Amino acid sequence: MAQGKVAAIRSDLDIVIARTMARDTAKALGFGAIDQARIATAVSELARNIYLYAGTGSVSVREIERSGRKGIEIICEDQGPGISSIDLVMQDGYSTSRGMGMGLPGAKRLMDEFEIRSIEGQGTTITSRKWRT
Ligand SMILES: Nc1ncnc2c1ncn2[C@@H]1O[C@H](COP(=O)(O)OP(=O)(O)O)[C@@H](O)[C@H]1O
Ligand SMILES: [Mg+2]
Repeated sequence: MAQGKVAAIRSDLDIVIARTMARDTAKALGFGAIDQARIATAVSELARNIYLYAGTGSVSVREIERSGRKGIEIICEDQGPGISSIDLVMQDGYSTSRGMGMGLPGAKRLMDEFEIRSIEGQGTTITSRKWRT
């Protein structure tokens, strides 16, 4: 598990693969059923965004440890159009695709740490973490 796992996102089926990979990894790391579901849901939303807005990208999951605490880190990367205003996309209900606009703010609430780095025209990297209780 120290190595982690990566799922390429190229089709809508890859969203399910990424979701399953994240849930299985969370389970292997000792997360309970509710946290497994939270992590799987967050990954599903982030992978869907890659597919919808960037076309292709990747989702990586790995085990992390900080001050003796273990957790899971999920990195979602794409080289799509980027996000011009992170404040705007983090508002509940904001969508450029007539979606629900809950994917990013929802994923943030489901995880313990959530950071977006994005450069317009270059792409987006979202790093999120959840710690085992
Ligand atoms: N990976 C991404 N690349 C570029 N834009 C993105 C990405 N992810 C999200 N966005 C932008 O953020 C908005 C909000 O995303 P989200 O909260 O998931 O809601 P929804 O997908 O329903 O629109 C999207 O409508 C889109 O404009
Ligand atoms: Mg979305």
